[in-house]
Amino acid sequence: MADPDVRGAYERHVNPTFSKLLGLLGYGRVWVKGEGTRLYDDAGKSYVDFLAGFGATNLGHNHPGLHRAIADALSASPVHVCHTGPTPHEAALGERLSRSAGAPFEIAMVSSSGAEAVEAAIKVARAATRRTGTLYCKGGFHGLSLGTLSIMGAPRLRGPFEPLLGNTAAVPFGDVAALREALASKKFAAFVVEPIQAEAGVILPPPGYFAAARELCSKFGTQLVFDEVQTGVGRTGTLYSFQHDGITPDVLVLAKALGGGIVPVGATLCSRELHQRAYGSLDRFDSHGSTFAGNALACAAAIATLDIVEREQLAERAARMGTLLVDSLRARLDGHPLVRGIRGRGLLIGVELGTAATGALRSVAARLTELAPSVGRLSPPPFVGQWISVRLLEAGVVCQPTAHEWDVLKVEPPLTISEAEIATFVDTLGTILDGYRSAAAILKDVGVRMASRGVKGWAW
Ligand SMILES: Cc1ncc(COP(=O)(O)O)c(C=O)c1O
Repeated sequence: MADPDVRGAYERHVNPTFSKLLGLLGYGRVWVKGEGTRLYDDAGKSYVDFLAGFGATNLGHNHPGLHRAIADALSASPVHVCHTGPTPHEAALGERLSRSAGAPFEIAMVSSSGAEAVEAAIKVARAATRRTGTLYCKGGFHGLSLGTLSIMGAPRLRGPFEPLLGNTAAVPFGDVAALREALASKKFAAFVVEPIQAEAGVILPPPGYFAAARELCSKFGTQLVFDEVQTGVGRTGTLYSFQHDGITPDVLVLAKALGGGIVPVGATLCSRELHQRAYGSLDRFDSHGSTFAGNALACAAAIATLDIVEREQLAERAARMGTLLVDSLRARLDGHPLVRGIRGRGLLIGVELGTAATGALRSVAARLTELAPSVGRLSPPPFVGQWISVRLLEAGVVCQPTAHEWDVLKVEPPLTISEAEIATFVDTLGTILDGYRSAAAILKDVGVRMASRGVKGWAW
């Protein structure tokens, strides 16, 4: 199905193991076009997107208004990179971000990715407080750079890179007593936390958790850093997710959807006072930055994205469509033996799959993956979520499990998703799940699929 040159070049020069893994269950597609809520493969098949580039394409793919804004910015031959003084685009983005987040976020440090923006938050907190520790939550996901891996809340992704940054510690998400005990040591410059733990399986905080975290951070002199790389820019039904929680963090971290799904851009917002404490001296004013931070293209895209989210009321739409999606999923799937929970806020929704018996079946799945020698060493994933995402893809829906919990489907469409597409998604998922009453039945299908694909040499 896939253009052999694209697959071959990707497999030879980009990521050989990923390419083989795609062949293992039949997930391989070459993606050639994105338009609104739709993705197209090189065979011309259309898919409805319930992944949105892991939360990057909140506007939908290739929003025409964003294209126009980018074309307009480029046609004026702006200065993209100079660094010997301010440019209009960077100044305008700083002002626009500050206005969008409200007090006390007067300063925006612009970067090019989520991981960079989180590292900027850790740096500003360390430089301002003169402390070295960073506290984070078990299950958290903040990026794959060495700095952010140091606060990665799951062992699979951080293990190969140990030892990482020192003076970090993890507390369970939602546990106020553990947080109080850790912060009371007064060792921590920052407590870095996601308002909703997306990659841990779309985990919402217990009521009152962030009010307590706010109070404790203020009491013990730790900067409260909200990583809104995935929850920001309208995703959860307000422009920023902290606006649900009735508190204001000290540092707000954005990326992904900020560039409209087209241009890489991140931002780290804080108060003028915090920035002054960190970098407000001659020997420190240039302690943070990077060559392409604040380039005109990125800034123009971010400003246009915020304007489009506001003009099209996409946050409000996310709240409305999210309620519809959760209600419809519950109406269709509640009581199904393989559905363990449906939760979320706005258009960041998790459908937890599997049964208590799934764990035992994983060892059988392990044997199956060992029987695929040409794929190399792959540890066995929780297979229910993965298999359902394969079946969804075959039915024309792109949707993936969360990074840490592969039995939780992360349902995260562009905020422009329609009621009809939501109905299609719920019906498609319901129909697929109707075919299975147990994890063992899924395991059988996984085995049959792998055997048939093995015969074909894991071709796509
Ligand atoms: C909450 C959160 N923080 C940070 C990151 C890292 O962002 P990036 O991949 O742009 O480095 C991610 C990526 O998924 C994320 O979900």
